[in-house]
Amino acid sequence: MSKQQAHNVMWQNPLVRRDDREAQNAHRSVALWLTGLPCAGKSTLAFALEAHFHQRGCQSYVLDGDNVRHGLCADLGFSEQARTENIRRVGEVTKLMVDAGLITITAFISPFREDRERVRNMFKPDEFIEVYCACALEVCEARDVKGLYKRARAGEVKQFTGVSSPYEIPLSPELVVDTAQASLQACVAQVCAYLQSKGLLLDV
Ligand code: ADX
Repeated sequence: MSKQQAHNVMWQNPLVRRDDREAQNAHRSVALWLTGLPCAGKSTLAFALEAHFHQRGCQSYVLDGDNVRHGLCADLGFSEQARTENIRRVGEVTKLMVDAGLITITAFISPFREDRERVRNMFKPDEFIEVYCACALEVCEARDVKGLYKRARAGEVKQFTGVSSPYEIPLSPELVVDTAQASLQACVAQVCAYLQSKGLLLDV
């Protein structure tokens, strides 16, 4: 990774601020950071949340691991350093999107605590909501939506999370959703109830 630094750049202040956007949207902008093993249900929950927010007139957007790796992070693989850089970039994009007034939902394995904490520290306490999609490895592996667990067991996919690369469970996430047992609607409702309890989402 290049260590080049930007020089002679000065922060430019916009005329429209985040507060103005939030007032217009009638909801707060937050980062909903979903983390969990492959096939835990992060993308499914993220897109269901986005559809729910859209339906109730809230501005939201999903940053999904597989999708982001088609463009912004297409140059990154799955080594520890590459994953760290992946999460760093996504953290920066999330920050921009939260500033743009969006409920920003991210669906990345984001396996390393330190990387997730680094992103958390970019936000104010109430703005970053870590949502651990808790699903046992056996359940994730039985789902194997993309056949990658099978290929990882066969040694065809290297450094696969849960098989040959670690996943560090969050120690104090704001939310734990049981994506092994609970229904999708129940998980969406749990996240919304949390946002409402914090006054981040109006009860419409
Ligand atoms: S992260 O670890 O850097 O956060 P990210 O969420 O962006 O990962 O990408 C995970 C997706 O990449 C998985 O859904 C899977 O489809 C694909 N993938 C390909 N190779 C691997 C691998 N070695 N480990 C984990 N996921 C992989």
